[in-house]
Amino acid sequence: MPAYLAVETSCDETAAAVVADGRRVLSSTVLSQIDEHRQFGGVVPEVAARRHLETVNAVICDAMDQSGLKPQQLSGVAFTAGPGLIGTLLTGISAAKAYAWAHDLPLIAVDHLLAHVCANYLETELAPPFVALLVSGGHTQILHFESYQKARLLGQTLDDAAGEAYDKVARLLGLGYPGGPAIDRLAQTGDPRAFSFPEGHVAGFDFSFSGLKTAVLRTVEKLSPPLPQADLAACFQEAATKVLVRKTIEAARQLKAPAIVVAGGVAANTALRRKFQEQSPVPVFSPPMQFCTDNAAMVAGAAHFCGLSAALDSGVYSRQKR
Ligand code: KG4
Ligand code: ZN
Repeated sequence: MPAYLAVETSCDETAAAVVADGRRVLSSTVLSQIDEHRQFGGVVPEVAARRHLETVNAVICDAMDQSGLKPQQLSGVAFTAGPGLIGTLLTGISAAKAYAWAHDLPLIAVDHLLAHVCANYLETELAPPFVALLVSGGHTQILHFESYQKARLLGQTLDDAAGEAYDKVARLLGLGYPGGPAIDRLAQTGDPRAFSFPEGHVAGFDFSFSGLKTAVLRTVEKLSPPLPQADLAACFQEAATKVLVRKTIEAARQLKAPAIVVAGGVAANTALRRKFQEQSPVPVFSPPMQFCTDNAAMVAGAAHFCGLSAALDSGVYSRQKR
């Protein structure tokens, strides 16, 4: 039973986990820094790095304790190599290196985006091929996974990421940080037809969310307080999720993919999940809620399925820097 310990510190979650066979989560510890960053309206990289430094060793010990495994029973130690905030990544990399060195274990560098997709293998039997929609705070991509290791980039955002658009619109509406879950909640009581927002017309499988964000801003500027927050949230969400779902289903149709996989923090969005279930002609998978946003279990899964070279040389890693 190969089992990996993984460490994730790419942004504002200090996380460690132990996963067996890339699917069975033996432990998953996530220490969120949201409360520390909320007062600033977003993540402050230097504050995040220092906080990771204070907590990462305790988080690793907790994950190992909860797993019931001894270090000698591990196949290796995985860490998020990027993309992410350089200072926060460095703390996780250093902690993982030290642990691997102390216990004479192999060290595996994992791409964060690939890890988000691998969150879908946790606690299921799902396997490629499939088309994946990766929607996080920093990325929005449609990928074709032919195998565990081989991914082809079909399209991506030309400006803001979907999660970033959620966070920026939430700030406009005075909903604070993080914006995604706040808009998701509020939109449930709003009228998605109250305002008409553009969905951003870009060719092929690429996306653009900056026009949508600006349209919300212009509408807010014209309204007098109190803002109809719920209606604005519902209309923004309607436009954002509509284009994500439409293009992903079209990609799956063109490639004759037998399944769609949704990954990244925005995969937790209830409207996105519902639209996919209602509209997709093929089965749609998304991770359990706790594995949508940043966690280390997905990193351990990527180490298992993609191995040392695949994790760093994967299509996902090289193509996203185009
Ligand atoms: O994957 P993630 O945890 O971190 C990155 O790798 O970026 O994604 C965080 C993003 C944030 O922008 C957050 O607002 C968004 O995911 N998010 C959501 C929801 N939960 C988190 N967006 C929409 N609806 C949600 N329920
Ligand atoms: Zn992430």
